[in-house]
Amino acid sequence: MASLHLPCATTPSSQTRSSSRPVFAKPSHFITHAKRGRCLQVSCAAAENQNDSSRNVETSQGKVDRRNMLLGLGGLYGASNLVSAPGASANPIKPPELDKCGTATNLNNNTQLDINCCPPLSQNIVDYKLPPVFQMKIRPSAHRLSPEYIFKYNMAIDRMKRLPKDDPRSFMQQANIHCAYCNGAYDQPGQGTLDLQVHNSWLFFPFHRWYLYFYERILGKLIGDPTFALPFWNWDNPKGMTIPPIFVDPKSALYDENRNQANLPPAVVDLGMTRNTDPLQVVANNLTIMYNEMIRGNSDIYDFMGQPYREGTPVNPGPGASERGSHTAVHVWVGDPRQPSGEDLGNFYSAGRDPLFYCHHGNVDRMWSLWQYFLPSKTVPDKRITDPDFLNAAFLFYDENAQLVRVTVKDTLDNLRMGYDYERIDLPWLDYRPPPQTVAARVTRAGKSAAKAETVFPLTLDKIVRVLVPKTKKGKADELLVLENINVDTTKFLKFDVFINDEDDNIAELDKAAYVGTYAQVPHKTANKSATTSIRLKLTDLYDDMDVADDDTILVTLVPRHQGPGVTIGGIKIIENPTPAPPKTS
Ligand code: C2O
Repeated sequence: MASLHLPCATTPSSQTRSSSRPVFAKPSHFITHAKRGRCLQVSCAAAENQNDSSRNVETSQGKVDRRNMLLGLGGLYGASNLVSAPGASANPIKPPELDKCGTATNLNNNTQLDINCCPPLSQNIVDYKLPPVFQMKIRPSAHRLSPEYIFKYNMAIDRMKRLPKDDPRSFMQQANIHCAYCNGAYDQPGQGTLDLQVHNSWLFFPFHRWYLYFYERILGKLIGDPTFALPFWNWDNPKGMTIPPIFVDPKSALYDENRNQANLPPAVVDLGMTRNTDPLQVVANNLTIMYNEMIRGNSDIYDFMGQPYREGTPVNPGPGASERGSHTAVHVWVGDPRQPSGEDLGNFYSAGRDPLFYCHHGNVDRMWSLWQYFLPSKTVPDKRITDPDFLNAAFLFYDENAQLVRVTVKDTLDNLRMGYDYERIDLPWLDYRPPPQTVAARVTRAGKSAAKAETVFPLTLDKIVRVLVPKTKKGKADELLVLENINVDTTKFLKFDVFINDEDDNIAELDKAAYVGTYAQVPHKTANKSATTSIRLKLTDLYDDMDVADDDTILVTLVPRHQGPGVTIGGIKIIENPTPAPPKTS
């Protein structure tokens, strides 16, 4: 059965095709359709024979062999299957030159703090080869850990904190990886002073996957347990929507005092940053956000993964739905408002200093895995980018033996090949489609306060703004809403939500058809404190739940969730979906 698994063809065949490579240890996750009530459970035939002790909540109607599904996607890496990326092909992002690492800067509130977060140097860089997988590590939900696991995890972090300061595996050095890659310490090699940045683009998921991969291996090594797997913060499930209790015990190595004290348990994580005070409504908002960023809002692979970022590309070409949505919200929600820049989690330079960061990113990484393998989409049939500028982008990390290694994006595409999987947890957002909106607010009522799109842009978004945007076709068309030339002050937390034809104007409730999506960012530094980015939000499925009749105009409401200026939007338009859905088969 093992031979059925499709390895990354782009990884050296000597490793991936090795006949001694074991089969998967465990089945995982769920598969779904965007349609209500039509989800299938994915399992792994090889694993079904084993004693699977992981808890599984049945929400499905049938089973699909995961590997057959992978195969069924057909020629995942075949040249005939290239996903063409927007923008001309250039070269992949090169790994940073560590000896040219500069001072990172934390620019916020006009105070400038120079931070040295450069790693120790090493002349000896080895190309990293994924080792064969003999036993799949299963990352557990942080809310469901056994006392033995908690003890081990604590001990591992404690030992990491006790390593010598200049050991690249020590706690601060590990935290500094994030600072250096994310707050401007590195320039792109050979590109002048152009920053190297791993957020707000297609590098977001792969970079963080590698980061956690080595972090996990280092922890395992420190406690002599190569099977050690990082926990994930299951914030997408109501049972996981508080900070996991293991992180809030002041005596624990997992504790960090730089957190928002108002958001400690039992506070419910607010993925929408709506400041709604009703916890049940916050849960409803969260599930809607998950449904939106995982299922309804993406038209192509880049809408989810983030926009292409190649050698010579300016930073922040555009974050994917998950990065700018739930990911950003958790950072900012946990960050401590008593600190000047929302430290620790609320700013990229300090985020890695909170052990909770790695647990949060476990779930972010899990979202990538879920989306990639288990969410067959009508519109994004192949969930992998095959652009060589993506696959060959490279980073440097120190491995568990303090060896500096060069890794590439192509080796991250399959978490099973990397030797880990996630505990299966119910995904209550799968079918969390908001109720239909039957009464159209449309242009009549709201039109009174709405401006015409031509007249308001560029727009500094510091209050709620309503604009009328022409459709490409009347009624329920296959369309995207594009927000372009979004100029952001990168040093600030910024977020705005987008609604269309919102009938009730209750901006603290997101569980309605009118909610389209969000833009949000974690504060970080870029060379000139600003970046220009864009997002696309798919409207097609949302029209199904709205009375758009034969309208040829949509009312767009932009709701800032941050205070003050910091974001200017260049324009809004509705375009026809350039990657239309294949014909429905059912
Ligand atoms: Cu590198 Cu959550 O950020």
